[in-house]
Amino acid sequence: MTATLIDGKATAAQIQEEIRAEVERLKTEHGVVPGLATVLVGENPASQFYVRSKRKRCSEVGIRSFGYELPESASQEEVEGLVAELNANPEVHGILVQLPLPKHLDEERVLAAISIEKDVDGFHPVNIGRLAMKGREPMFVPCTPAGCIELLDRYGIEIEGKEAVVLGRSNIVGLPVAMLLLHRNATITICHSRTRDLAEVCRRADILIAAVGRPKMVKADWIKPGAAVIDVGINRVEDPTAKRGYRIVGDVDFEAAKEVAGYITPVPGGVGPMTIAMLLKNTLTSAKRAAGLL
Ligand code: GUN
Repeated sequence: MTATLIDGKATAAQIQEEIRAEVERLKTEHGVVPGLATVLVGENPASQFYVRSKRKRCSEVGIRSFGYELPESASQEEVEGLVAELNANPEVHGILVQLPLPKHLDEERVLAAISIEKDVDGFHPVNIGRLAMKGREPMFVPCTPAGCIELLDRYGIEIEGKEAVVLGRSNIVGLPVAMLLLHRNATITICHSRTRDLAEVCRRADILIAAVGRPKMVKADWIKPGAAVIDVGINRVEDPTAKRGYRIVGDVDFEAAKEVAGYITPVPGGVGPMTIAMLLKNTLTSAKRAAGLL
């Protein structure tokens, strides 16, 4: 069997087009231009790349982006001061503090300083707390987990009543994606480094979400035939034949897994492009709320 490929790149492009049209309508009918502030502290090359990509995609859909860069040496007070300024700025509907922050900064305090109405990353403790509880509505849901669910939905993959296994328990992906699947009435298992019989647990999954950051860890014989496999991993592996000397692979051994799975996301071109699409969507939602349109 060969799996149906879940094309995150095409899906993200389609969502981006939907957002572009809606941003234009908001502008012409209500004079509102959605705005996203990005905060980058230090010079982590991966973070610089992600922030650049986010701002570029904003401009493609007509969202105004405000880029703030602070030196590696920035103090807790400086970062929180900037966040307070952005909280008060009515042109800013979303605030994104790129993670990880330099070690000397208290990430939890920075994230808690962001107004929950502008927390388009969904990392504020109140938003995460609401996500973790039954019958509560977070203002925003974290972007990568939301992207995983959006892919399942747009490919018509049923979630309700299914066995979903999540590999990884990070605050950014594993934990929130498990909560989202639970809210959609899946039966969830969260696996981590201490899980026994990992392969056996994975083989139970109708929906398998891999978010551990280990190249090609998930083997074909860990996958139940016909399962939907969502690979969140972005891992660099050496490849002397590649132009840059490395290539990007996921957490799943894609070539072998696609012969067993029913649906599978590639890396790159799967979940990755969806993260920014969800960020744009959250920023648009925030602007509409601020204008009293939702
Ligand atoms: N670092 C890795 N992923 C993310 C993300 O989704 N948002 C932010 N702000 N930082 C990240």
